[in-house]
Amino acid sequence: MATSLVRRAMNMASRVSSLTVAPASRLVLERPYASETQAQKVEPKAAATPNMKTFQIYRWNPDNPTKPQLQDYKIDLKECGPMVLDALLKIKNEIDPSLTFRRSCREGICGSCAMNINGCNGLACLTKIESGPSETMITPLPHMFVIKDLVVDMTNFYNQYKSIEPWLKRKNPPPTAGKEIPQSKKDRAKLDGMYECILCACCSTSCPSYWWNPESYLGPAALLHANRWISDSRDEYTKERLEAINDEFKLYRCHTIMNCARACPKGLSPGLQIIHIKQLQLTGGA
Ligand code: SF4
Ligand code: SF4
Ligand code: FES
Repeated sequence: MATSLVRRAMNMASRVSSLTVAPASRLVLERPYASETQAQKVEPKAAATPNMKTFQIYRWNPDNPTKPQLQDYKIDLKECGPMVLDALLKIKNEIDPSLTFRRSCREGICGSCAMNINGCNGLACLTKIESGPSETMITPLPHMFVIKDLVVDMTNFYNQYKSIEPWLKRKNPPPTAGKEIPQSKKDRAKLDGMYECILCACCSTSCPSYWWNPESYLGPAALLHANRWISDSRDEYTKERLEAINDEFKLYRCHTIMNCARACPKGLSPGLQIIHIKQLQLTGGA
């Protein structure tokens, strides 16, 4: 880079000096920056060719409610970060500000950038852009009502989460008034594989049973959280929690297909937690 700057300065200086003596005809024939162009040829960065990739993105606008369609956007991957969310942000910032999607943390914590990428549910911020020339198709989470483009209505999903009462419930006061309720390391370990859930809905929206009964079946995410509180040694409503979901639709629509485990970007297995709930239903919570 330093060499090119020196060469460019020398070229500019010689061009200025030649301008002072050159006749007008020579000025017209002179190719400005010709030697600079030659210098750029030896710069590896400048010589790099673009790596274009097409993203086919689902578009639907409630203000102009025509049929949904896939819109193509081409971007140079050499000028883009490695993740699908980077591509979406680049498209929104540089090509089409009307493209609508949710995102916040960009590091797999908030769960808001869940969408379907090349046929699999996942978080855009944790999904790498596939190398190679094939298009990347991005659509909203399946079988959800679309609000706009990649943004879906999560109301039913959140209501189902709320219905399992996801908070600590006690019948007795804490052992020591005003202090936290102690829990052994072994009991605390029982919550592993559940407390990490970020409520992204990738699992529920990949579950065929949830597609067919989205209002009556609670779905893998809500049931994982039900088991999280059923399994908590500090909670004193285990029996009531089990009774509340002992229903052929709320719980028993799960047929252990395990799409949910495949889709979870946090590596959790809601299907296994549902099996645990079913086992407890058989033994009465013991
Ligand atoms: S295991 Fe149950 S919750 Fe998970 S995808 Fe299959 S039916 Fe849905
Ligand atoms: S279990 Fe996994 S996929 Fe399902 S909501 Fe939680 S983090 Fe998302
Ligand atoms: S932006 Fe928060 S999980 Fe992707």
